[in-house]
Amino acid sequence: MTNSSLPVGLPDSHARETVARLVVLISGNGSNLQAILDACSTASLQAQVVAVISNKPDAFGLERARKSNVPALVVPAQPKAPDRRVYDSQLADTVATFLPDWIVLAGWMRILTSSFLDRFPNRVLNLHPALPGTFPGTHAIERAWDAYHRGEIHQTGVMVHIVPDEGVDCGPVLGQETVPIHAGDSPEQLETRIHATEHRLLVAVLRELVQTTSPQR
Ligand code: GAR
Repeated sequence: MTNSSLPVGLPDSHARETVARLVVLISGNGSNLQAILDACSTASLQAQVVAVISNKPDAFGLERARKSNVPALVVPAQPKAPDRRVYDSQLADTVATFLPDWIVLAGWMRILTSSFLDRFPNRVLNLHPALPGTFPGTHAIERAWDAYHRGEIHQTGVMVHIVPDEGVDCGPVLGQETVPIHAGDSPEQLETRIHATEHRLLVAVLRELVQTTSPQR
């Protein structure tokens, strides 16, 4: 973008920024957010988390953001406003103010409608603790553990994909990694192994994206 084509009011510094701007959406613990923050702080990822947004006020990830001096916002769902499109449009307005290149769903446990996604086409990434096409939705790790004990699967995995539409945990895959399940695993042990893999994969996918694409904002 040349300076002459900058929107009115957008500081020149935005045009000169080469570090990718990430907005991370969370609903809970935020261990994957932490992996991103750590990678950004050591420059192993040429990116900056410019905002963390949660739909839950008590999400621990908000604390992680504040500790890293990143704006931490809550956009709570209104129990009496069942229209998800209204919420998603407000959420998109909030996200847009941070001029993100990429929006990362790192434990964001709400399905986003086109009211949100159409504002950021091909720029919303989702992390899911299962392989493509398996265990969409919540409790994917527990369901994989159960499936293993029923003899239905021998391994599970994690993936990062683009979110093209309202489909749950599906879309063009940017990265995936299998995770073994061991016979003596407790659900907690499997969860720990999956989270460690997620932390690595998510940062690796982001690194590849920011190295191979120009700013999207
Ligand atoms: C992660 O395991 C992520 O893959 C999962 O939520 C967890 C969040 O952990 N997301 C989904 O299940 C999406 N369907 P974190 O808050 O510690 O990053």
